[in-house]
Amino acid sequence: MKRIAVIGGDGTGPEVVAEGLKCLQAVAEKTGFEYETEEFDWGGDRYLETGEVLPENAVDTLKKFDTILLGAIGHPDVKPGILEKGILLNLRFALDQYINLRPVKLYEGVETPLAGKGPEDIDFVVVRENTEGLYVGTGGFMKKGTEDEIAIQESVNTRKGVERCLRFAFELTRKRNKDKTLTLCGKTNVLTFAFDLWERAFHEIGEADYPDIKREYAHVDATCMWMVKNPEWFDVIVTDNMFGDIITDLGAVIQGGMGIAAGGNLNPGGVSMFEPIGGSAPKYTGTGKINPMAAIFSVQMMLDQMGEEKAADMLEKACVEVISKKMKSMGAGKMGMTTSEVGDSVVREIEKM
Ligand code: IPM
Ligand code: MN
Repeated sequence: MKRIAVIGGDGTGPEVVAEGLKCLQAVAEKTGFEYETEEFDWGGDRYLETGEVLPENAVDTLKKFDTILLGAIGHPDVKPGILEKGILLNLRFALDQYINLRPVKLYEGVETPLAGKGPEDIDFVVVRENTEGLYVGTGGFMKKGTEDEIAIQESVNTRKGVERCLRFAFELTRKRNKDKTLTLCGKTNVLTFAFDLWERAFHEIGEADYPDIKREYAHVDATCMWMVKNPEWFDVIVTDNMFGDIITDLGAVIQGGMGIAAGGNLNPGGVSMFEPIGGSAPKYTGTGKINPMAAIFSVQMMLDQMGEEKAADMLEKACVEVISKKMKSMGAGKMGMTTSEVGDSVVREIEKM
């Protein structure tokens, strides 16, 4: 019996998660996968009521689960940064979820803003380091608020942190068995310390342990250009936390938008957390307009990570049917159906299998 912690979070988070759980129940019934869920009300509303971002025992509580499904964090009445840092980043760090895995895959029937590109061109994965870099929060102010103010924010890159991320990316490239090409995305021409470490580790590890994997390097600015011009060049991209954050929003857009982009915060030896990467979209809360597909794909990634490959495949196939044959668009309010009708359609496809 697997135990799944569910954090609906803010805005449209709870409603998209509800659709994900509906689909999970349907594939579980088909495949005999046994699980139980427990819901946590952590997020902006609870913070505004209690003044507490997370209960003191939150991390220990979550450590007892097999996995976590998260909706979205971010509330219009809470100053930016408080919930993001206090909940999302805090959990990623405390649970040592050192990989942020973000597939960029254009499914048949989904519109991409890239002219002349189709599903055969857009199918790669970004492996984002998730516990270091600029996100560590080292640095500070001097003479804050004066004319002489200084603000310093440092990028922290440890050999261990970089190495475990690179090894994960090499393994994934091997497992995908697509082009067997791993691209390191960095900025070696300017960030001559941080990406020097990344680049040395990349080639050392690749040469020693992954001779079957082709190694490419691209600066982050060029990566952005190529993701638009020639996305077919990519198989797996590995990069640091900040660059990974930026290029995966671009990735989400070329795969059809935030309505479909899913991600996983992985600790391969611990507790992982899966989330649609689109955010809380507060203006759509309760309107039935938000696309739950990203949350449903997050469930698919969660099943895959738990070793439930059959259930994951089934769910993916059901989603593909609904996306290509039933939904008009991936955009909020343009789907030709409501949030819960999307979930219901996926469930119907699963039941037919
Ligand atoms: C993401 C988000 C977060 C990040 C924010 C909300 C802190 O943009 O998951 O990509 O920067 O990692
Ligand atoms: Mn982001």
